Amino acid sequence: MINRPNSNSEIDPKSFDTIAKLAYRESGLILAVEKTSMIQSRLRHRLKELELPNFELYTDYVCSEQGSVERKHMISALTTNVSHFFREQHHFDILQKQVRETLLPRLQAGDKVRIWSAGCSNGQEALSIAMSLLEISSDIEKLDVKILATDIDGEVVRFATNALYPERFVSGVPSMLLDKYFTEELTKTERVYLAKANLRSLISFKELNLLANWPMNRKMDIIFCRNVVIYFDQKTQNDLWPRFRQLIDDEGLLFLGHSERIPEPEKVGFQTSGPTAYKPIC
Ligand SMILES: C[S@@+](CC[C@H](N)C(=O)[O-])C[C@H]1O[C@@H](n2cnc3c(N)ncnc32)[C@H](O)[C@@H]1O
Repeated sequence: MINRPNSNSEIDPKSFDTIAKLAYRESGLILAVEKTSMIQSRLRHRLKELELPNFELYTDYVCSEQGSVERKHMISALTTNVSHFFREQHHFDILQKQVRETLLPRLQAGDKVRIWSAGCSNGQEALSIAMSLLEISSDIEKLDVKILATDIDGEVVRFATNALYPERFVSGVPSMLLDKYFTEELTKTERVYLAKANLRSLISFKELNLLANWPMNRKMDIIFCRNVVIYFDQKTQNDLWPRFRQLIDDEGLLFLGHSERIPEPEKVGFQTSGPTAYKPIC
């Protein structure tokens, strides 16, 4: 008899514990017991996809040697990818000031500028950075400026690379910028917006786990890591701060999300430079 997946399958405490430990080890994500029903519903489609009837069998599979691809799907299902264009506008205002006063003159003098959107989700943050740069100088794309946008979740990275957004995604883009930087199309089911080539050419999207090694071989001038560490525990956050400090240029800036803080920034080489913005202490 074939065991059909049961869409009402409930996660048992032992499976929950094993999955929580695996998610923590693989990605730093903390799965709180209070969120059991949300986690259960996020993972149910994985059971369905694999035709597994219950969470015990799913847990055995995802922890097994053959489960390496499924571990990626599991992390993708568990991540929260909510984002929007120009989220926390004040960071883009600080970015533009930094570009005008420091980064553009450096670029014009032949230097390179590197910006990292770490935990970029569907790409709205990286595209908002790109629009902010082009609004300062439409010629900036001819200079050596690059935005690296990374996320652990391969699905959002693929979505971001396509840069095609349903109408509901672009509500945060001022209409002037929408007309200027996107082309509009009407599909059979909805209106969609494709980011223009000049925006996309500034950005490289890549899969990257923040807990793994970082492959960058030069310092970052600006790092956006917003609304990502909120899903990590204090230990994982504390391990990240010195790594950001090591990677960031002495004149650089680090932006965190509105409810994220470096608890004692001086101890890890940063000082506050605005709301959830930090600059290195040299
Ligand atoms: C809520 S979104 C934030 C998106 C964007 N930075 C913003 O503020 O709108 C959090 C993103 O962090 C990513 N993430 C979670 N754990 C990660 C890890 N260990 N390494 C890299 N990205 C991770 C998730 O996949 C998700 O896309």
